[in-house]
Amino acid sequence: MKFFVDTADLKDIKDLAETGLLDGVTTNPSLVAKSGHTNFIELVREIASIVPGPVSAEVAALDYETMLAEGKYLAKIAKNIAVKVPLTPAGLKVCKQLSGQGTMVNVTLCFSAAQAILAAKAGATFVSPFVGRLDDVGQRGMQLIEDICTIYNHYPNFKTEVLVASVRNPMHVVTAAKLGAHVATIPPNVIRQLFNHPLTDKGVTQFVADWAKTGQKIPTA
Ligand code: G3P
Repeated sequence: MKFFVDTADLKDIKDLAETGLLDGVTTNPSLVAKSGHTNFIELVREIASIVPGPVSAEVAALDYETMLAEGKYLAKIAKNIAVKVPLTPAGLKVCKQLSGQGTMVNVTLCFSAAQAILAAKAGATFVSPFVGRLDDVGQRGMQLIEDICTIYNHYPNFKTEVLVASVRNPMHVVTAAKLGAHVATIPPNVIRQLFNHPLTDKGVTQFVADWAKTGQKIPTA
């Protein structure tokens, strides 16, 4: 399972990239606004230089022509850019066009299995179902992931990867992995939560104390 970080914060991206566990980055207009950066193109260029895996950069326009032009511009920033388009008729048309030209495309704002089928047929590299936002309105976000994984598994010609988005907690990540989702894009705080278990902390403290009692040192050179 691949881990992308869902942020436009360079400090978090650099910090998490150092763990060696990061496979990509996703951004969206809200995350860019939150980061405070005023030069989106330079921000994306820098992120793409830090993380070699796919970096999702979202178009801003809603009409086909402008969206396509924006997508082509974003794709030229770096080889690892995945152009992010909304799951709308125009967005899927752009997806088909850019995918056909060898550009990675992430189709975002997916809230139904029917939409995910369309994204796969449009040749999307990734489809982003938003689990947290479905949970927020009383629907089961993870049921959507199960449905999409089941459907995609029936059709080996569907090459689209399921990129679980709007992740809010570690159990979203674990359930996504159990269902066989290819990728989870995870906010930095949730990635950090994945490391934690109180018994790990307790065990480390005990081992440190017991090792001190032996009076020994392991050579480091
Ligand atoms: O990147 C899109 C998605 O992950 C947004 O998450 O928490 O704003 O629903 P959220």
